Amino acid sequence: MACEMTEPLNNQANRFLQACAGAKVDTTPIWIMRQAGRYLPDYQRTRARAGDFLTLCKTPELACEVTVQPVERLGVDAAILFSDILIPLEAMGLPLAFTEEGPKVRPVRSGEEIEALRVPEAAECGFVMEAVRLCRRELAGRVPLIGFAGAPFTMLTYAVEGQTGKQFVATKKLLFAAPEQAHLLLDKITETVIAYLRGQVAAGAQALQLFDSWVGVLGVEDFVTFAAPYVRRVLTALRPLGVPLIYFANGGAALLEEVGKLPADVFALDWRLPIGLGRQRLGIGGPGDRRAVQGNLDPMVLFGPVPELERRVRAILADAPPRGHVFNLGHGILPETPVPHVQALVEMVHRLGAAVPRDGRDPA
Ligand code: CP3
Repeated sequence: MACEMTEPLNNQANRFLQACAGAKVDTTPIWIMRQAGRYLPDYQRTRARAGDFLTLCKTPELACEVTVQPVERLGVDAAILFSDILIPLEAMGLPLAFTEEGPKVRPVRSGEEIEALRVPEAAECGFVMEAVRLCRRELAGRVPLIGFAGAPFTMLTYAVEGQTGKQFVATKKLLFAAPEQAHLLLDKITETVIAYLRGQVAAGAQALQLFDSWVGVLGVEDFVTFAAPYVRRVLTALRPLGVPLIYFANGGAALLEEVGKLPADVFALDWRLPIGLGRQRLGIGGPGDRRAVQGNLDPMVLFGPVPELERRVRAILADAPPRGHVFNLGHGILPETPVPHVQALVEMVHRLGAAVPRDGRDPA
């Protein structure tokens, strides 16, 4: 039988992309959102050498160094480019700073300020494209490199709030009191994100993730009006590039029926619903459906004891589909996370994932 003869390629270089394609794998691949970051002493050292976070992002050699660190330290199955979703806002004309309290953006305050925003070309973030090229060279085929951007609605929240929103009052004022201005801003961000991600793929990114970190503050109707059409436009524009497209709607449990209509290859889930129920709500799993899911361990479980971590990992693997699952956290890893627990997580996903029964045919 053809499918028995095409054994999965038993190596780390292929696992992640195979799982994104809903194909058979030797074990479940894992990468971790924010895997390069403050919980890693290696990162702390490189960041200290750079002086500050933005300089680290803008120095391709150092950005490449921290991109590769978690691959070596943890043995994850994909690298994610080290950068930040806010970087393209600066090129649009909104100056950016990272402070002790988090990111600060000079916010747009009027329709005229939205009109004045530019749609930059990818080359204007040339340091990002150079970091992608260096990472590919440095990774040398060991694991694939994921590029990323913020999804349009999440980018809008930073442009309007000027920081990470709390109640998202400024955002919702714009959406509800001046929807035509909101749509103009979303339109400009969307065009920026498309060019930026095309640039990353041209430079060598082998998969792309769109982070919709704050989309969970929208009700279904507003998701359909202000978020989904722009995500659809980004995904449709990138589709011809042929790399897997991952969409992460953080806090999106109430939105999954609509999220599942978007043309992504992989849907990243937070921890709020079990993965099986999440797939059901997304409408994934019909005959021939190769769409995959990514997730969804609560990042704070990593603070608990390792046996409890293993119990949770087993539960996720038992609930996830045998093909088309990329293990990840349900949101970014936190700064105080103990590194040995993260190493234990990667080891147990690989060990327990190898025992998942994956016989039978690939879906037609
Ligand atoms: O995943 C990775 O390892 C790649 C690097 C990466 C960073 N930010 C580095 C970073 C990625 C993929 C991001 C995405 C990002 N940035 C998102 C989407 C993911 C999510 O968590 O929802 C968002 C919302 C941002 C905006 C942002 N950048 C915030 C809110 C903060 C401050 C809070 C925090 O976690 O520190 C940042 C700063 C930031 N981005 C840091 C890192 C490593 C910390 C900077 C430091 O070293 O002090």
